[in-house]
Amino acid sequence: MILRQDESPWTVPAPAKLNLYLEVLGRRPDGYHELETLLVPIQLYDSLTFSTNRSASRGELAPISLDVTVQQSLPTGATAETPIPIGSENLVVRALELLRERSGCDRGAHVHLVKRIPAAAGLGGGSSDAAAALRLGNRDWGLGWSRDRLASLAAELGSDVPFFLSSGPAICRGRGERIEAITGTVPLHFVVVKPPIGLATPDVYRAWDDRSGAEQQDRDLGRASLAQLVAALRRGDFRNLGEWMSNRLQAAATQLSPWIDQVRTACTRLDFVTHQLTGSGSAYFGVCRHAQHARRLATILRTRQLGLIFTTQSCR
Ligand code: C5P
Repeated sequence: MILRQDESPWTVPAPAKLNLYLEVLGRRPDGYHELETLLVPIQLYDSLTFSTNRSASRGELAPISLDVTVQQSLPTGATAETPIPIGSENLVVRALELLRERSGCDRGAHVHLVKRIPAAAGLGGGSSDAAAALRLGNRDWGLGWSRDRLASLAAELGSDVPFFLSSGPAICRGRGERIEAITGTVPLHFVVVKPPIGLATPDVYRAWDDRSGAEQQDRDLGRASLAQLVAALRRGDFRNLGEWMSNRLQAAATQLSPWIDQVRTACTRLDFVTHQLTGSGSAYFGVCRHAQHARRLATILRTRQLGLIFTTQSCR
């Protein structure tokens, strides 16, 4: 079979995210959990380079393939992350297969993925890669799908994927697929700590289910603090951020991994504005007053052997 590969492949960045607020409102009949979460994209990026494969003969599907280069600066003594799958278990391949199936297109693609976002961290790397793949497939295969049509496909791939089709901070509800963009917030500076051991999202939600009796919550209080948080982020007022930010999955994640409490304790001793788990973990982050503050606190944390530590800021 003769394949034509386009000469100038497209490269796009796929950002990571942090959850500044995550409330679990309950378990749904489909096994998922009803969420209300505030997500912020951050300046830590995977990148995807996409080249279209065209099929030589009518009715024959051109292949979809992926290769991955991992570019993570691991701290001394840390072992490499679990290998990233390159078959249909990878959300990039699954996204393109699904897009091709639903659009009836016969084209394929080769994607080169550079992985900088740690996996099993709650940083949304796999979901962001999938959203980027959908956008690239839509554009390079000439499908002309609307954002809404892509978003409903994105929701089938994973709860966080629709968020990454939009840009900027957003409140996500439902399973995470109902997006309300939040505009006018100030740039934020962070230190992110990714402990050596990751956490699997289903395990953390299962642990939340087991704890849910102990997690009796006041939803009205939750809503009020989300509104206060958004208002404070718009004003650039960090005074009560610690009261309004929260992550309902943190206690469940802490039960599964001793690293979370170790990182939390280390952060408590430093002058972060506030700090918490992102998503279902295992990454943990602190909010800083400015870039220099973040660099100073990251330097101190790097002496504590807590895993991978980096500074970053919210995407503009
Ligand atoms: O949607 P996604 O594939 O990212 O979800 C991974 C797992 O996380 C699900 O299988 C489910 O166990 C859990 N999850 C959940 N409720 C959500 C999102 C994820 O229970 N809203």
